[in-house]
Parts: sequence; C-alpha cells; structure tokens
Amino acid sequence: MSYEIVKASYDRCCESGDFFETFYEIFLSKSPEIAEKFKNTDFKKQKSHIKASIAMMIRLGKGDAKAYEAIERVGVSHSKSQFDIEPRFYELWFDSFCEAAVKHDKEWNEKLKLIWKERLQDGIKVITDKY
Ligand code: HEM
Repeated sequence: MSYEIVKASYDRCCESGDFFETFYEIFLSKSPEIAEKFKNTDFKKQKSHIKASIAMMIRLGKGDAKAYEAIERVGVSHSKSQFDIEPRFYELWFDSFCEAAVKHDKEWNEKLKLIWKERLQDGIKVITDKY
C-alpha cells in the first residue's frame, strides 16, 4: 500500500516539471560542503541519475533484487574512498527532497512525508552502510 502511495506522489513530482532542479537548488543551499561536492557536476546527467535511483529506492521495499543491487552501487560510489559522502548528509538530503516535494506534489502533506520517510530509510541505510 505504501508503495502505491509513494509511487503516485513521485509520479506527480516528476510530471510537475523541474522537480529535480528545485531539489538541487534546495540541497546545494543547505551547506557549502554539499555545494563543494557538486562543483564540477553536469546537472543534466545528474538529474537523470537521481531520478532513476529514487525510483529504485521506492522499489526496494518490494524485495526487488535489481533495485537492491542498484542502491548498493550508489553506496559504493558514495563511500569514503570515492565521493566521500558522510552519513550525516543524508538527513539534509531527505529534508531537501521533502521541501522540493512540497512545491511539486500538490497532494503533499505531513502524513505523506512520514510514508516517504519510511520508504526511503531502507535505501539510505543500504547506502550509508557502505560508507
Ligand atoms: C539517498 C540519497 C542519494 C541517492 C539515491 C544518490 C544517488 C546518486 C547517483 C545515482 C549518482 C550518480 C553516480 C552513481 O551512479 O553513483 C550520484 C552522484 C553524486 N552524489 Fe548522490 N545520491 C544520494 C545522496 C547524496 C548525498 C547526501 C550527497 C552529498 C553531498 C551526494 C553527492 C553526490 C555527488 C558529489 C555525486 C557525483 C556528482 C558528479 O558526478 O559530479 N549524494 N548520486
């Protein structure tokens, strides 16, 4: 049930136009350390990577093995020896995601936020466990 709710919310975000533009604008403004990490990033590519990987995080809870492997790969690229994304940044990532969703999902509310949080926390754990 929560899968369908989150999937529908994500579809509304993706169809609203510029959701990922809003997300990165908010996320990069959260801390100079985050902005620094993305200083050489091609955002056209990055937006399509993040769009696909959030879809994988949503599928994770359904016991989808392909989704699990994809999220593990994100964990490897974000680990200390590669992009070096400390686990403390993921809370700001989630806050930024929700702030962007407030603007792009017209059905957003606090209850939906909790359902999203529950859905994404497993994926975030898979990623941060690889740090
Ligand atoms: C659940 C949260 C996140 C997901 C799903 C995610 C996903 C991704 C994906 C799919 C890529 C493309 C490269 C790859 O496939 O590994 C990427 C790149 C990157 N991510 Fe994340 N990410 C997350 C959180 C973060 C956080 C918290 C930071 C902190 C600053 C971050 C920083 C970066 C950087 C610096 C890159 C490389 C950008 C470049 O190519 O210049 N990510 N991320």
